[in-house]
Amino acid sequence: MAVAPLTGSTKAVGLASFPSPMTMSPLTLDRNSLGRGQRLGQVQALKTFSLPDLPYDYRALEPLVSGEIMELHHLKHHLTYITNYYKALHQLDEAISKGDSSSILRLQSSIKFNGGGHINHSIFRKNLAPVIEGGGEPPNGLLGVAFHSSYGSLEALMQKINAEGAALQGSGWVWLALDKEMKRLQIETTQNQDPLVTKGPNLVPLLGIDVWEHAYNLQYKNVKADYLKNIWKVMNWKYASELYEKESA
Ligand SMILES: [Fe+2]
Repeated sequence: MAVAPLTGSTKAVGLASFPSPMTMSPLTLDRNSLGRGQRLGQVQALKTFSLPDLPYDYRALEPLVSGEIMELHHLKHHLTYITNYYKALHQLDEAISKGDSSSILRLQSSIKFNGGGHINHSIFRKNLAPVIEGGGEPPNGLLGVAFHSSYGSLEALMQKINAEGAALQGSGWVWLALDKEMKRLQIETTQNQDPLVTKGPNLVPLLGIDVWEHAYNLQYKNVKADYLKNIWKVMNWKYASELYEKESA
């Protein structure tokens, strides 16, 4: 059973409504100068944060990823990142309104970790698909051509990504990215919940694999290599292909 969004749309975050500091005199960066309407609008926008729906049933990826993992991953882990991200943004809003620079700086790590967790898990859900809906089917089209050009074959690409994921110490993610500026595929890893954008502003995440233990331990125990081998059997290459063609155009 797919889970309905808890609070509706995910599209607005609200901090974008702040005037850019680069366009303002330092003397204007006080609470009153922002204007009451802007502040109210910002808080209302933050209320739209929500847990994105899963596009498939929790058990739809079995036996490759258990329903228990999918449910815990969605309802416990992802929701916790969203809750803490939302909380940190509200605290940031308060800190900015008070001119509390220490708190503003202190909150950056929480925003990065929890906001990254929200972004990464939202991508991860779209990267997977049940086998009966095309999960694991090799990509055709331009992405397939790019694989062969850059790595020789899809199998070689998967082996390289698995090797990077297996070598990642601690928790993190392994990514297949499109470098929009260089027009080439790139494999990257990020630590903890750092999103791919921390490795470069031109990198588009075509797919990301969660290599935190919570993504596989219940089913695969501590054998990360088996998890990495099987996750490809439910990879949604259709999503990656469509994104590649859109972003590389
Ligand atoms: Fe995760």
